[in-house]
Amino acid sequence: MDKYVIKGGRRLEGSVRIQTAKNSVLPILAACVLTDGKVTLSDVPDITDVANMTAILSSLGCSIVYEGGSAVIDSSSAHTFEIPSALAHGLRSSVFLLGSIVSRFHRAKIAYPGGCDIGLRPVDLHLSGLKRLGVNISESGGYIICECERLRGNEIMLDCPSVGATENIMLASVRAEGTTVIENAAREPEIVDLQKFLNVLGARVRGAGTGTIVIEGVNKLGGGSFRPMADRIEAGTFLIAAAMCGGEVVLEGVGGENLSSLLHKLRENGCKLRVKNDKIYIRSDRRPLSVKSVETQPYPGFPTDLQAQMTALCTICSGNSIVTENLFETRFKYVPELKKMGADITVVDRSAFVRGVERLHGAVTAAHDLRGGAALVIAALAAEGDSQVVGITHIDRGYSGFEYKLSALGADIRRVGV
Ligand code: EPZ
Repeated sequence: MDKYVIKGGRRLEGSVRIQTAKNSVLPILAACVLTDGKVTLSDVPDITDVANMTAILSSLGCSIVYEGGSAVIDSSSAHTFEIPSALAHGLRSSVFLLGSIVSRFHRAKIAYPGGCDIGLRPVDLHLSGLKRLGVNISESGGYIICECERLRGNEIMLDCPSVGATENIMLASVRAEGTTVIENAAREPEIVDLQKFLNVLGARVRGAGTGTIVIEGVNKLGGGSFRPMADRIEAGTFLIAAAMCGGEVVLEGVGGENLSSLLHKLRENGCKLRVKNDKIYIRSDRRPLSVKSVETQPYPGFPTDLQAQMTALCTICSGNSIVTENLFETRFKYVPELKKMGADITVVDRSAFVRGVERLHGAVTAAHDLRGGAALVIAALAAEGDSQVVGITHIDRGYSGFEYKLSALGADIRRVGV
């Protein structure tokens, strides 16, 4: 298990190029199973979630070749509709593949993904959506088993705007007979990106980004080339790091349009921000002001994937804050770790009550999940003294070259194998 060794207290200065979005690339890779055409994805991030999804596609019989940061996917030889449980458990978002596999093979068998460190992560909305499209679903021995004669378009109302369920239903319906309408669909930018990608392959999808998505089934999809959108969560993580450490940072390759809720909060913190084309400039030259309240909501509300990082920032604000997590049941597991660094936080139900302190101090902390781990790293960068963050394989799931990018901004951080 590798760890980060960090000497805190350094300001961050310089520019950092933002990777393409993990949460766009994963459903797009799942979508490649739908076509026999060759697909080229450029600038695919070097993260373990992508490596795990690649392993799953390979196990289905797809060919994936990485050439200079691009992935060339050919699913023409895909021959298996079952995902081995070891692979499915290694990647929760393997459940997105259900829609693609059942569309291609009219059968699918995948280990039940189960919960993870941020909550129960049920898939009931995925399964009820697939049933509305004509899929018979049974569960046995920890597996979800799907079978259907043919997929038929239908109207589907989601009880909550689930990102994964919206994407799974989109993937299952692009080659169904007739038209599918998803109501109360998730509005995340990654879903707009998936729509763009599917339409490059010849699908007929419209409405992504709104609560109603319409998919007109087509018989066949072709190939194509596509560059996924920038990772707004990686971008937000670096912005919060700059706000915590102080300094002047330029994010390159990302616009501000998908980060409005965070930019609004950081301006409340007293940061200076400017967005120009595909660059975001941030300057922070004082102790952050408190933002009073942060409530995570489905897009365009404040993203749950930036909740931990924002809570870390709140720990050193001049004032008190309340951070409320409305999407996942147990997304505060990083809080006891921040308290080892001197943070004053009390969690009651879904809210963290934070009293701002002048500075955090270094400590040895442990990452329990991807975004909580990132929060511990940026807290250590801002803290006084030496820190270690263990369990950084969680961070490797979603951040490519995290320590290199931070070092290039002046942080004193290095990876050590243990
Ligand atoms: C996606 O997860 C993201 N993952 C998550 O990012 C992100 O936190 C989440 O959307 C919310 O934005 C990927 O895109 C790979 P949901 P997903 O279905 O699809 C409930 C990260 O750190 N729900 O929108 O699993 C669920 O319990 C990860 O990059 C059901 O009740 O999230 C939760 O309360 C973490 N039944 C809420 O919906 C279902 O069938 C939101 O979950 C599905 C979900």
